[in-house]
Amino acid sequence: MDYELNLDWQSFMESHWQKRPLLIKGGFRDFRDTISPDELAGLAMEDDVSSRMVTRFDGKWDVRHGPFQDFDDLGEKDWSILVQAVNHWHFPSAALMKPFRCLSDWRADDLMISYSVPGGGVGPHLDQYDVFIIQGQGRRHWRVGEKIPMKQHCPHPDLLQVAPFDAIIDDEMVPGDILYIPPGFPHEGYAIEESLNYSVGFRAPNARELFSGFADYVIANDLGSYRYSDPDLSFRDNPALIQQGELTKLHRMMQDLLDQPAVFRQWFGEYISQSRHELDLAQPEPPYTPEDIQALMAQGESLFRLNGLRVLRVGDTCFVNGEELKTPHIEAADVLCQYDEVSADMLGDALHDPQFVILLTALINSGYWYFDD
Ligand code: SIN
Ligand code: CO
Repeated sequence: MDYELNLDWQSFMESHWQKRPLLIKGGFRDFRDTISPDELAGLAMEDDVSSRMVTRFDGKWDVRHGPFQDFDDLGEKDWSILVQAVNHWHFPSAALMKPFRCLSDWRADDLMISYSVPGGGVGPHLDQYDVFIIQGQGRRHWRVGEKIPMKQHCPHPDLLQVAPFDAIIDDEMVPGDILYIPPGFPHEGYAIEESLNYSVGFRAPNARELFSGFADYVIANDLGSYRYSDPDLSFRDNPALIQQGELTKLHRMMQDLLDQPAVFRQWFGEYISQSRHELDLAQPEPPYTPEDIQALMAQGESLFRLNGLRVLRVGDTCFVNGEELKTPHIEAADVLCQYDEVSADMLGDALHDPQFVILLTALINSGYWYFDD
């Protein structure tokens, strides 16, 4: 199913994206849930799926992590289950990410879905991410406060909350309403009726993550083996003092590694195309041969991209799940980046190059693309 968003993107980007929260009443007209509470609970019972349950019984917050065995004895009030990256595991739900593809793919993270019974919620908190919270079935009371410096505390070791805040948005969301919240704006939602909420999250890396990812790349690729040297070392009065000129040289050494655009680009492509959430990889058995792929494509079969797979382009290089797509066929590789359904026509001449077909076969045999059978 295709979901059409009732939103003026231009004015949204100018006035709200990363700036101000916005409640989009009727953002999806005639919204239909993509998943049932039972199916969501089923996902929360699976090993590969990340899920948690947040309860507030007798005023005491508690968090439990999935996979869950059962959901008995929970009662009818004050609990919520939240399932991460549902777009990876549940095909119809993945369609909800598509209307947001006019924002950049590399910033998109996942679709989290929560099910709450009346009173259920995770409490007042901040997120570091941009999020579009779509109201599915039921009604939920949502409040958003101003972005001001706020102390965070943990009423439970796995739950970060903020103190009560004054609301700048205070509304009852009904199915199809969408609440956009930029990073750092406190918010809280409490179900009035049994509710489903769909959170389309956009993630921005912090400098710490970038440094750590870059350091991993430097190590894995044996970069930066050059060593500090000081043939001009001079006698000094204070042997304990590291001189400013020495510090500058050390700093420069580290900066030189970062200052190589080709290295930076390659690293970032590999780094950012890795998914932070498990993929539902199913490798075809027996594997396809390049001849199979050529024949199937020639018969008009389309290739579908695995939901959640990150396929991104940096300059003239395309990256899939942490690896460069090594091919001179930039246009065909770009088609794989841009479209989640690809036909032979779209790949054009590349399909006549045996090397490209071998590459495509490897991608399909990895479970990254598949034929709809
Ligand atoms: C929820 O769906 O209950 C949590 C969404 C959020 O506040 O980020
Ligand atoms: Co939140």
